[in-house]
Amino acid sequence: MTDDKIPQAPYQGLAPIYDYVMRHIDYEEWVDYVHSLIERLAPDTEQVADLACGTGNMSLELKRLGYEVTGVDLSEAMLRVANGKAGSEAGMEFVQRDLRELEGLGPFDAVVCMYDSFNYMLEADDLDEALASIASIIRPGGLFVFDVCTQRNSLRYFHDMRDKETGPGFSYERHSVYDQDTRLQSNHFQIHYEEGDVVLEETHVQRIYPVAAIAKRVKASVFDLLDAFDGFTLNEGTEDSDRIHFVLRAPTPEN
Ligand SMILES: C[S@@+](CC[C@H](N)C(=O)[O-])C[C@H]1O[C@@H](n2cnc3c(N)ncnc32)[C@H](O)[C@@H]1O
Repeated sequence: MTDDKIPQAPYQGLAPIYDYVMRHIDYEEWVDYVHSLIERLAPDTEQVADLACGTGNMSLELKRLGYEVTGVDLSEAMLRVANGKAGSEAGMEFVQRDLRELEGLGPFDAVVCMYDSFNYMLEADDLDEALASIASIIRPGGLFVFDVCTQRNSLRYFHDMRDKETGPGFSYERHSVYDQDTRLQSNHFQIHYEEGDVVLEETHVQRIYPVAAIAKRVKASVFDLLDAFDGFTLNEGTEDSDRIHFVLRAPTPEN
């Protein structure tokens, strides 16, 4: 195997094998949870934006439930995979945008941003920019649901975690490190593709915010914070949760 490692932007080298690496995730269950929140709190929802949609797994499940879906992601490589899976399915489109620069899209009845993608907002300013840009694409009274990982999750599972796997035509190694001082979670991937005998290397960095810090940024935004749930439940999310689902409502003209 070659010793040369070719640096990649986040998700660029990983995109073709992302679904393999994430095959343990029950996307149907994830989307059923979001759907139950939408049905309860915004039952007239028809058009949904799936932000940081990656390879479109959530987008396709949302479509299955009857929503008209626009998937949005920063990574061209991830969107290429998403487009390949969706084919020419009606009521589905994918757009390349940064979460903080969505102006002009939509408007959508609801917006979701799943699987700790909000943790890629590395500074409080990024959170503020993302919330403002999402506010610009959502209809008055629409629901915005996003999830974040907590420090407990990083300390339990990704403090200093190594794994490696071999799949069809590739193998990869991942090293995850959590730095409690900076609250930065890094996931470093080395992926060997047999075709061309190349090793691609990339690092993903996320900020693991205190739950209260995110709630504070939401309260400073135009959104109403309806709930912060312990992942996949209707119980209150706390620092003891592994994942928190934040449920926000866009302002209506009266408020
Ligand atoms: C963990 S993946 C989640 C993908 C998908 N939601 C899923 O559940 O499989 C995180 C995604 O966030 C995207 N992402 C990271 N930073 C972003 C940004 N600033 N704007 C838009 N997408 C971003 C990445 O490209 C990647 O596809």
